[in-house]
Amino acid sequence: TPGVRPLIAGNWKMHGTLAAARELAAGVAAAPAGTAELLVCPPFLHLLPVAKALGGAVALGAQDCHAAAKGAHTGDVSAPMLADAGARYVILGHSERRADHGESDAVVLAKAEAVLAAGLVPVVCVGESEAQRVSGEAEGVVAAQLAGSLPEGFAAAGGVVAYEPVWAIGTGRTPTEADIAAMHARIRAELQGRFGEAGGKLRILYGGSVKPGNAKAILALPHVDGALVGGASLVAADFLAIADAA
Ligand code: G3P
Repeated sequence: TPGVRPLIAGNWKMHGTLAAARELAAGVAAAPAGTAELLVCPPFLHLLPVAKALGGAVALGAQDCHAAAKGAHTGDVSAPMLADAGARYVILGHSERRADHGESDAVVLAKAEAVLAAGLVPVVCVGESEAQRVSGEAEGVVAAQLAGSLPEGFAAAGGVVAYEPVWAIGTGRTPTEADIAAMHARIRAELQGRFGEAGGKLRILYGGSVKPGNAKAILALPHVDGALVGGASLVAADFLAIADAA
């Protein structure tokens, strides 16, 4: 999108030792500043050491948070705690959380409100299953997820949408370029319908089997303003090659 700085985000999921996280962060931070903004999202436990290893050149994000700012929620982490640890972004509603933890659009919405209240930027994930794609429901499913999970203040805070077709995550399969472009155009239209002019400038990331070999073609598509990278973000050279393609 013209005038929008691409965002290349790494979702490290539940991978790596502390030593590996430090090394990966240092490898990413050593990259010369390029066109794209870089973001890494380690597991909660690794946020503080990774923040230190990044040294401020690369943005830090978390993979989830609780909807409450504090309270009796054993095992959870709040958005203010993430802000305090140096995070700027929080991934919300990833399909793995929707599947593993039964997160609905309403839950994602509540978490996104908490992220905004803490002064952080939500990265809200949406995407259809393979059955929904095959039956022609993909765009409708994604539009409903957006309507149900984006809070009122999303655009003002520069919120990010990540389109991740569930069947493309970790599978080595991706939609056709035409299908990615069509979905991103639909997401743009939904954002503009909801937020007006500001919706035209929000970043829409593509995620699902993004690799150095396909990044250039995907990132060149209209309304693709970056990538949310899983597996390939665990190797600094691959992640930086994807960033170079932006
Ligand atoms: O959040 C990013 C992720 O779900 C994509 O994973 O391994 O297909 O790049 P991967």
